[in-house]
Amino acid sequence: MKRRTLTALALGAALAATAASAEITFRHAITGETLDFEYGKKGGDTEAFKKFKQSGKNPYNTDKAAIDKGHSLYLTACSGCHGHEAEGKLGPGLADDYWTYPRGATDVGLFEILWGGAQGMMGPQYTNLNADELLQIMSFLRSIYKGDPAKAEWLK
Ligand code: HEC
Repeated sequence: MKRRTLTALALGAALAATAASAEITFRHAITGETLDFEYGKKGGDTEAFKKFKQSGKNPYNTDKAAIDKGHSLYLTACSGCHGHEAEGKLGPGLADDYWTYPRGATDVGLFEILWGGAQGMMGPQYTNLNADELLQIMSFLRSIYKGDPAKAEWLK
């Protein structure tokens, strides 16, 4: 192999390593442990989720089709505890700017709470819903946000 080809290969490998290390580390909201996406409900490793792991921004925010799917998933999986309009019931409201876990105001933080769970009845959601479905639910929650826009960290 020519030297130039080798250099190009080495450069490619270095770039790939940088891309991999640029991936965000997601942490459990209570324990701080790194979340592992290898387990849980299958089918969630979509293009949108791949982008999200790199950018920390939910690509489905403002995507009407995703918001509609998220709405229907929310009604099945979350509304029993959080209320139909996410106004709060057994669990806290999810469409305002008060957060028990302030990280919920960012997309990464909200995903961390959903995937890994919080305390008591707020169990991890990864067995029920895959990563892509969680992003859809998140986009629905952002779409019905009623809090102060200045506190909408996910928009920044
Ligand atoms: C069995 C009832 C139950 C279900 C089902 C449930 N939750 Fe929760 N959720 C709770 C409770 C109770 C809390 C408060 C836990 C805590 O403070 O640690 C909570 C907390 C949360 C929080 C943190 C809120 C904050 O103010 O920081 C988020 C976000 C959340 N839930 C989203 C969801 C979503 C989205 C779903 C559906 C995928 C869901 N939950 C399903 C009961 C539930």
